[in-house]
Parts: sequence; C-alpha cells; structure tokens
Amino acid sequence: MTPPRPAPSAPPPAAAGPRDFAARLLDWQRTDGRHDLPWQRSADPYRIWLSEIMLQQTQVETVIPYYARFLDRFPTLADLAAAPVEDVMALWSGLGYYARARNLHRAAVAVATQHGGRFPPSAAAIAELPGIGRSTAAAIAAFAYGERAAILDGNVKRVLCRAFGIDGFPGEKAVENRLWALADALLPQAEVGRYIQAQMDLGATVCTRGKPACTRCPFAADCVALTTGRVGELPVPRPRKAAPRRHSRMAVLRCGDRVLLERRPPAGIWGGLLALPEIPPDGANVGQWTQARFGLRATTMTPLPPLTHVFTHFVLEIAPLQIEVEAGGSRADDDGALCWLALSDTTGAALPTPVRRILDGLATPD
Ligand code: ADE
Repeated sequence: MTPPRPAPSAPPPAAAGPRDFAARLLDWQRTDGRHDLPWQRSADPYRIWLSEIMLQQTQVETVIPYYARFLDRFPTLADLAAAPVEDVMALWSGLGYYARARNLHRAAVAVATQHGGRFPPSAAAIAELPGIGRSTAAAIAAFAYGERAAILDGNVKRVLCRAFGIDGFPGEKAVENRLWALADALLPQAEVGRYIQAQMDLGATVCTRGKPACTRCPFAADCVALTTGRVGELPVPRPRKAAPRRHSRMAVLRCGDRVLLERRPPAGIWGGLLALPEIPPDGANVGQWTQARFGLRATTMTPLPPLTHVFTHFVLEIAPLQIEVEAGGSRADDDGALCWLALSDTTGAALPTPVRRILDGLATPD
C-alpha cells in the first residue's frame, strides 16, 4: 500500500508582516481615522476626483479652502468643462504644481465631449483621463463606486515597506511591482473605500516619514520595521547619484628638504589653507610651467602614488608629481601666496588632509 502523501503545505505568505492587515486597519479607522474631511461628504466622482488631484503633494489643511472655493465657482463637472482654463488657473493660484489644474480642465472637457458628460465608471477608464495615474484612479473608483482597486501612493508605500519589511528603493520598478502585488493581495472584500481612506490616514497621521507614532499604530506588535529596529531605514531612500569625480595634478616642488606650498584663495575648497600648487590640466609641459610660474628649473620629476579624497559633492582624484628643482632663482619668496617650508616644519601647518598625507609620504633627504 502506498503511504498517504503528505498534505501540500500552504504557500509561504507573500511577505512576513502583520496578519489580518485589512481587518485591523478597518478597526483602527473606525476609532482613529479621519471622518470629517469635506470630500468625504460626497459620493460625486467629480468632487472626489477634484479632492484627489488637489491632495497630490499637498497637505489636507492647505487644500480645504481651495477645494471649497473651487466648488463654489464650479459646482459640477459641466461647469468646469465650460469654463476658460484661465479661470481654473486663477482658482488654483497658490496651490502649486499647476500642470494638475491644466490636466483637470482638459479631463473635464474630455468627459464632457467624449463620455457624454458622465464620469468614467471604473478605475481603468478613469486612468485614461489626462493627469490621472493608476493610484489616483483607484482611489477615485474606490471612494465613488466602491470598486476593489488598490492604491499605492507615497503614504501607502511607506506603510507597506515598514509593516512588511520591504527593502529596496520603492521608486525602482521591481520594488514598485512587488508593492503593487502586495497592495492588491491585502485588499478586503468589502468596505474598500473606507479601507483606502484608512491607509491614507495611517500614513498621514501615524506612520509618518519623520517621527512616526509607532505606539499608536495598530501594527506595532508585528510591523517588521518596528520589531527589527529598522523604522528609520525603511522605506529605503532614493539611491544617491555617484558623486562626480574631479582630477587634480599636484606639484610637490622640492629643493633639498624644503617643499613649496601655496595659500588657497579664501573662497572655495580648502579656502585659506596651505596646499600644493595645482598643475594646470591643459597638458602644457610641466618643466616649462615650473619655469614660467615659479622661475624654477626642474631637474627630475617623479610621479608619487595617487590618492583619492572624498568631499560632500564630489570625489577628488589626486595625482601628485614630485618635481625637484635647482636652488635659487625662485619667485616664491616674493609672492605672498607661496612659501617654502622645511618638511619638518609642515607638521603644525594648516594643511588639507590629502596634502598632509602626500607630505607625510615623502622621504626626508639625509
Ligand atoms: N490624500 C490623498 N487623498 C486623500 C484623502 N482622500 N483624504 C486625505 N488625504 C488624502
């Protein structure tokens, strides 16, 4: 007799993190969510759409007076579509991101002329209108029609990255796809509008970017970021662009045990410090430059080991060139910016770190 097969194990969860996410969020929303925002009083898709556009990159408190004035002047989508765009821009003035207002007007005209004045009936159709992305379309459809459509705005991304410990910058396509899949999987079967509002409320009032109020969070017990001490690290910030690289050839002009230093101009990097003169990057003959710039005759030239110095906004690749010069004939002493210093006297001088490293590496002649 064949032994009974083991029961297939349940598929692993999409991610570790809070269980019963939607149910707990809906419970939380009932007691702690926002219930009196002006756009929550209407199921009119036009009013909901207007609020969602105004709320993009803009705080609730800023939006409220603009929203009221806008609806006073354009109470219906037909009023908006019939108005000159200049009137729309005037009412938007001060709210910022003006492409939103232009697109709003274009979309109103499109609804009036191509949809018979009826606001599109689904998230997919709403997303076809100018200026409405997938998440905004889903929010409008969920609020206006109760459609089961997930949103993924900045607040939701932050909540999901923390609660489920999602690594990687959320603006990266692969991470964003994963977040969309998670947002879809978490959607409740019913009360989608209230759930979407709850997600927005949690992100705006508890799981905020700085100083989140984790003690008031319904997911505090099993939030991956909180339980692993990574709230400050998630979501992962946009990767910094590689710092630009600059190159500098520095002249280590030596005469016996002395080295020629130059005081940097007060503004700019290493302002006021004593540094090594920079050889111009124009490819000119270094011997001629030494003669013309300092009145010195070069006898031997030896490349020294290159080094790298990291500044906040760029990386400096330094190629030092040791140039031994004949004694005498130097203009250095006549020029306030230039001075000869014995290597043993450079210890206490105000030198930039890489210059000090170069000088420290020089063998002192016997
Ligand atoms: N931000 C975006 N949509 C919002 C809404 N409906 N309520 C509060 N804040 C929001």
